[in-house]
Amino acid sequence: MGIITVKTEPFNDQKPGTSGLRKAVTVFQKPHYLENFIQSIFDSLEDLIGQTIVLGGDGRYYNRQAIQTILKMAAANGVGRVLVGANGILSTPAASGIIRSNQAYGGIILSASHNPGGPDGDFGVKYNISNGGPAPEKVTEAIFDRTKTITQYQVLESADINLDHVGSFKLGTMDVEVIDSVKDYSQLMESLFDFDLLRKTLTSGDFSLCIDSMHAVTGPYAKAIFEDKLGAKKGTVINGEPLEDFGGGHPDPNLVYAQELVDILFGENAPDFGAASDGDGDRNMVLGCNFFVNPSDSLAVLTANAHLVPGYKNGLSGVARSMPTSGAVDRVAEKLGIPCYETPTGWKFFGNLLDAGKATLCGEESFGTGSNHIREKDGLWAVIFWLNVVAARGESVEQIVKSHWQEYGRNFYSRHDYEAVASEGANQLVAHVRNQFAQLQGKQFGQYIVDYADDFSYTDPIDGSVSSNQGVRIGFTDGSRIIFRLSGTGTKGATVRMYLESYESDSSKQDLDTQEALGDLIEIAHEISQLKKFIDRDQPTVIT
Ligand code: G1P
Ligand code: ZN
Repeated sequence: MGIITVKTEPFNDQKPGTSGLRKAVTVFQKPHYLENFIQSIFDSLEDLIGQTIVLGGDGRYYNRQAIQTILKMAAANGVGRVLVGANGILSTPAASGIIRSNQAYGGIILSASHNPGGPDGDFGVKYNISNGGPAPEKVTEAIFDRTKTITQYQVLESADINLDHVGSFKLGTMDVEVIDSVKDYSQLMESLFDFDLLRKTLTSGDFSLCIDSMHAVTGPYAKAIFEDKLGAKKGTVINGEPLEDFGGGHPDPNLVYAQELVDILFGENAPDFGAASDGDGDRNMVLGCNFFVNPSDSLAVLTANAHLVPGYKNGLSGVARSMPTSGAVDRVAEKLGIPCYETPTGWKFFGNLLDAGKATLCGEESFGTGSNHIREKDGLWAVIFWLNVVAARGESVEQIVKSHWQEYGRNFYSRHDYEAVASEGANQLVAHVRNQFAQLQGKQFGQYIVDYADDFSYTDPIDGSVSSNQGVRIGFTDGSRIIFRLSGTGTKGATVRMYLESYESDSSKQDLDTQEALGDLIEIAHEISQLKKFIDRDQPTVIT
């Protein structure tokens, strides 16, 4: 068994996106592709020798092979100890928690989140730092720089490690600990929520729920928590067996891709509560009986009800939301007298605020909610939080959301995604909006008058780092907004995201259909962007 040095050449496409390096499996399967990126991570980390890192993934196709390669490379690069999830499985939130509870140096998470898997699907690699959160831009930029000059990588010649069972092994001089993927996480949840109350509710016989794991990583976590610990009946968790190709599905918990759950919750004899999570377990969608909870509203409702949940009953230091997320939570923060931060899209921007104790809850419109318990968004955490609130208030999901609107007003909100369009047209569209900034100022469109039109730029309040070009936005004098962004997580062409928001304080108008309520704004967005002309699409791929 010896360390070998392998000669290689740089690939020119290893720039990490919104959430790590994400590519088609076939790209990762190219000789040296994975190894180059992993070596670039190791090369750009200081003092890696002898450190502990955490390793695991969402179980998608290529996870097993990649884990073995990374273990051997870690051993060859002087890593002291690797904590790896059994079978190579760790949900993203679980990995974040394990990095924190073990005070590890960092972690490598293998996932392409909600992108489809399988031999023709996507794969991804994400590096997380010692706080358990995604590496900030200065780290990902250093990794990217390294990928451009790399000439060799190190790997230990060795047989594969058996990851099927919990146990300890040696790989050269490095310790490998195969750990239970679920235990730590489920204990963490128990420390935050009222499990006794939840058990009472879920076993009472008059509360029914359905949790859709979409054949992705949360299956074992959800079964352990809802069925085994909280006593929900067997079968509560559907699609609970993780599959390498997610059963051919698209593991993104939204109204389009979580169709099976949506049909159940909007069907006859629908359960009281439904929820789904994504490929790596950090996203969530919450549904009530015949009722959809918009993720922006979800953040606001959780913030307003946090005092009912043991882990948060002592108050929140602040909240944070990504720029395109609706301002619903801002109104709650104002009432609570706590600060509300607006960050660029991507969880990595919440890390500093959480570390500095400036925010307790964070959220994104993209079905992401989380708190300072870890440094990633957390799908099942949000679901259990919701259940805790439902149980504590003794009201339905719909009643809770509607009474929230009555109290705070309703931020009608929708995101229209145009997936896999030609990159050229998408870039032209954004440039076209940008070119109009000056002339849009003060312009009237029907009842709407433009207040500002700009590129969102963020200065981190903790370290002063500046992130520019984080989405083009058009704000109107009544607070309504239209935002355009190009996705940083897609792997095919470009994905245009159009975000729309308007505020309605009159409770007699809050029951309107969202698309209807936003109808005028949608038209204005099309007029300003000339979307159809640039990307040649009639309909969005997904409407949330
Ligand atoms: C998308 C979401 C963003 C989220 C990210 C990772 O990124 O919009 O909020 O943090 O996935 O889950 P995008 O594809 O828009 O760059
Ligand atoms: Zn995800």
